Amino acid sequence: MTQPVRIAVLGETADFERRVAASPETVKKFIGLGAVVAVESGAGLASGIADADYAAAGAEVGPRASILSGAGIVLAVQAPEPASLAGVAPGARVVAMHAPAASPDRAKAYAAAGYEALAMELMPRITRAQSMDVLSSQSNLAGYKAVLDAAAEYGRAFPMMMTAAGTVSAAKVFIMGVGVAGLQAIATARRLGAQVSATDVRSATKEQIMSLGAKPIFVEAVKGIEGEGSGGYATEMSDEYKAAQAELVSSHIAKQDIVITTALIPGRAAPRLVSDAQLATMRAGSVIIDLAVEAGGNVEGAVAGEIVVKHGVKIVGHRNVPSRLAADASLLYARNLFNFLSAFWDKDTKVPVLPDDDEIVKGVRLTKDGKAVHPVLGGA
Ligand code: NAI
Repeated sequence: MTQPVRIAVLGETADFERRVAASPETVKKFIGLGAVVAVESGAGLASGIADADYAAAGAEVGPRASILSGAGIVLAVQAPEPASLAGVAPGARVVAMHAPAASPDRAKAYAAAGYEALAMELMPRITRAQSMDVLSSQSNLAGYKAVLDAAAEYGRAFPMMMTAAGTVSAAKVFIMGVGVAGLQAIATARRLGAQVSATDVRSATKEQIMSLGAKPIFVEAVKGIEGEGSGGYATEMSDEYKAAQAELVSSHIAKQDIVITTALIPGRAAPRLVSDAQLATMRAGSVIIDLAVEAGGNVEGAVAGEIVVKHGVKIVGHRNVPSRLAADASLLYARNLFNFLSAFWDKDTKVPVLPDDDEIVKGVRLTKDGKAVHPVLGGA
């Protein structure tokens, strides 16, 4: 009989991180697959999950040193420093968001320590991997929360209200960047009764915007640009396109009450979408939420972790927005991790088997057998 694989679930230590990588539901499911699960004491508290909930699901709960001892798989939200994994033998897998582009040295230290680092945020955008896609699950919640944050900062109402004392007009909300977060932001703002418009560089989003009952704002004059690169992500646009987009946005933004920006380009700084001059044309009391603030920001003057007021407009730059809805974000993230590992689970040996030639494995595996193997780290 082989020993069951031990899965250790870490408490998070990064600032602004309230999420956790396993839920009582996924603990039970991993145990059902034949694993032993050990959770660091207090790991779920900020997500509303007590140690007793994990214990009731069948997990061991204890301090970091004891849960890590003999672990074959470590689950985390943000990858820990490999040096903090004392007791975990080489060959163990660490499944987390590793941010290899921002922290290549840490990823390489995983190789040196002999761990297999699996970066969940690099999950390929293919149908088979949808249920494992942490960027989608977390962006969806971020898009929702961005609208609630905007509503909370806005000194007026979102829906039109006809009252005996007079009419309150509907808020005008403009969403810039219609990926997963942007689509959810449109839907949420519509539910709150706002008048919603949206823009993106990918022309495929036009129909999606309309199907959610919002108005598309698109550059039409510039030919031949679909704005879509590999994996459905945006590409860098031509100067001609950027100038046309800036002009269109300038006239539109001056009439908006709320702007929510979500635009990202993988591997690059976030594109600048709103300038200080454009901000100055907005009515005082307007609110801008910059969801890309940690990637450099879409809005001039946005500061990560702060609410800045410029020209009477609030620019909100909350960090780690999914973590502001930690309980739901954790449940979805935990399921993404379970769906990934269970899809490769070998029923006989009761461990995941990750084939080198599998598209998903190639997408997420950063290090193996002491080497950096992912192109993002200069690997094969
Ligand atoms: P993202 O977070 O990388 O970017 C957000 C949005 O900003 C994107 O729609 C992008 O086109 C837009 N953007 C970039 N530059 C811009 C600019 N200068 N002006 C305006 N908008 C700009 O995107 P996300 O949410 O990760 O989605 C990327 C793609 O992946 C989409 O096509 C989405 O449908 C697709 N997807 C596919 C999945 C699957 O098949 N498994 C799962 C999730 C997403």
